[in-house]
Amino acid sequence: MSFYITTAISYVNGAPHLGHAYEAITTDVIARHMRQRGEDVFFLTGTDEHGEPIADAAHAQGVEPQQLADENAARFKALMPQLQISNDFFIRTTDEQHGLRVQAVLERVHDNGYTHKGLYEGWYCPRCADFKVENEILEGNRCPIHEIALVREQEENWFFRLSAFQAPLERLFAEHPDFVAPAVRYNEARAFIASGLQDISLSRARMSWGITVPWDPGHVFYVWFDALLNYYTALGYAHDGEDLTDRYWPATYHVIGKDILKFHTVFWPAMLMAADIPVPEHVFVHGFLLGADGRKMSKSLGNVLDPYEVLDRFGSDALRFYLVRDVAFGADGSVGIDGVKMRYENELANEYGNLASRTIAMVHRYRDGVVPATATDPELAGEFAELPERVRALIDRVDTTGALAEIWQRVRRCNRYVEERAPWQLARDADRAQQLDTVLASLVEAVRVLSVLLAAYIPTASGKLLAALNRDDISIASAGFAARVAGGPVQALEPLFPKVSPPPSQAAA
Ligand code: MSP
Repeated sequence: MSFYITTAISYVNGAPHLGHAYEAITTDVIARHMRQRGEDVFFLTGTDEHGEPIADAAHAQGVEPQQLADENAARFKALMPQLQISNDFFIRTTDEQHGLRVQAVLERVHDNGYTHKGLYEGWYCPRCADFKVENEILEGNRCPIHEIALVREQEENWFFRLSAFQAPLERLFAEHPDFVAPAVRYNEARAFIASGLQDISLSRARMSWGITVPWDPGHVFYVWFDALLNYYTALGYAHDGEDLTDRYWPATYHVIGKDILKFHTVFWPAMLMAADIPVPEHVFVHGFLLGADGRKMSKSLGNVLDPYEVLDRFGSDALRFYLVRDVAFGADGSVGIDGVKMRYENELANEYGNLASRTIAMVHRYRDGVVPATATDPELAGEFAELPERVRALIDRVDTTGALAEIWQRVRRCNRYVEERAPWQLARDADRAQQLDTVLASLVEAVRVLSVLLAAYIPTASGKLLAALNRDDISIASAGFAARVAGGPVQALEPLFPKVSPPPSQAAA
């Protein structure tokens, strides 16, 4: 089955921050998990490079928009492997191929009669690059997202007849209650539609940093139309000489943040309908990361968690694990460096890392590095029954946090099992050799299964553990508890999560 998953594409007016990393990581966990299930996955991410915010930022720095876009797009692109993101393509909306395809799709919207020219006047947020409708505007004409003053703007625009899609969108929501999740976001989008849809600007006349409107070259497309289409255009040119559109479209999951809900769940399906293109299956909406003090992260408040600092000190497995474990998908979450350190030491190093090294060390100490060829302990096996199925079901609901919690419960259970069985005592008594064999075989199988299930979350550490067991099969099908390493040799394992050095500022003191 084909499975096409996307992140939002990031604005290039600044460097990547934790919010971007978070979205890429959660999406990557789902993409990796689906590959483990044998799905034919295509995973897209990229950068959104046109529009007023980029042009303004470039001019403020005295450079051309393309130069700023090139510099920042390179930073976003470079961050992906650092986070172990397994995207299949990285789209830039300044790619020539994207531009040509945007023009072709929107020309079809125009030919189908869903555009008209008119004078637009409204309250505009330069940060969102969006005109706000009356019921969204905060008191004092402020942006509901940025809380900055909106600007009264007027210009001759091409309009998209969003109003023509009132009924089709209502039908889409009624027939597909799983089109948007979580439910709170589904309700929010549905209420926005129910409040009555107005036509929206499709082009800007005063701007030049954008894709030219083919039927009226004095205009460029409003950046959101150009941006949303990335999900569709990328399939046309991601693989040289091969069009992947039929294979992967419609998209299975769009993963986005809650601030861009309206664009993805109202404008986007309407636009696709206007171009006779099938609409995506699901839009999954995550919350916002906040500083450890629960406030919006900002440099002036000093509550920013810098992804690069976490990567340097703790590594990418730790950042991935921390964000998915600490912030329930869909909800907002407060994050900070102390939380990273705690999860790293208490859970990754002491619980999983320690379980792995103890298990392997005991196989070496008591059985010369060969896993006893014996059946596993039904008691421990029972704890793992149905685990892969549960993880699958939770990931199907994009409950990446819930699935990780299920897995982690077993990590803890295994540590208790070691304490209960006390293999070091069994080892002192020759009559209990069979019992020791069972305990060791069970623990090896347990860390193997755990590592297969954790492969989507912490690919590096789980990969090292599986390599030490001489296992490279990470398919979910292989996550059943079945003594698969029995009789095989295991390699020594270096600590998966070594002690971390203090931050540079404290090290110097
Ligand atoms: N360019 C648009 C998206 C176009 S998609 C066709 C955009 N870019 S963005 O750079 O501002 O945001 C990219 C993604 O990061 C969005 O899904 C946004 O919600 C998410 N996040 C940005 N800041 C965030 C947090 N502080 N926390 C979590 N995610 C946040 O919007």
